[in-house]
Amino acid sequence: MKMVVINGSPRKSGRTGIVARYIAAKYSAALIDLSDQPLPLYNGEESQGFLPAVQHLRQLIQQADGVILCSPEYHNAMSGALKNALDFLGSSQFEHKPVALIAVGGGGKGGINALNNMRTVMRGVYANAIPRQLVLEPSSFAEGNVTVETAEQVDAVIAELKRYMNAAKWLKTQHE
Ligand SMILES: Cc1cc2nc3c(=O)[nH]c(=O)nc-3n(C[C@H](O)[C@H](O)[C@H](O)COP(=O)(O)O)c2cc1C
Repeated sequence: MKMVVINGSPRKSGRTGIVARYIAAKYSAALIDLSDQPLPLYNGEESQGFLPAVQHLRQLIQQADGVILCSPEYHNAMSGALKNALDFLGSSQFEHKPVALIAVGGGGKGGINALNNMRTVMRGVYANAIPRQLVLEPSSFAEGNVTVETAEQVDAVIAELKRYMNAAKWLKTQHE
């Protein structure tokens, strides 16, 4: 089954990209890296739908069986880069799709606002944001990688996502 992971950090050296790349490598998930493939600011013009980056984004999410959104927490919300990417998408890509949410905060209690913000937006596109979620902080990373403990936490989220992906596949057979 196909998974797509989005790195919602616009920072090339961001921690969110580290976890997104870990998921892409370990689970052979397609990676949409917003630090590497920036999208224009959504303006609602039909012509934006012809841009290769927008077509690529829409096609990958449409074809995915499950999606992982990874976002930094910036000012108590998901990144503007991720929200802008999501504005190019809607229920035609996301309806019934299981989505896992991972936030990277600055420590302390940071991160939960970005998770709640992503969950609200996923409701807006009729996605199925799964209950298990994860907050990471600077100590979740070491030497440019995720720590062993973080890898285990991420793996548990992906295992849960896969359960929902299987459930969604079965549900689809009941409604065809
Ligand atoms: C503009 C900005 C706003 C931030 N706001 C928050 C915040 O509200 N809560 C928090 O926990 N961390 C906040 N941080 C810290 C980031 O979440 C933290 O540095 C995280 O590693 C960012 O992800 P990135 O490294 O992928 O960019 C903020 C950082 C920036 C640059």
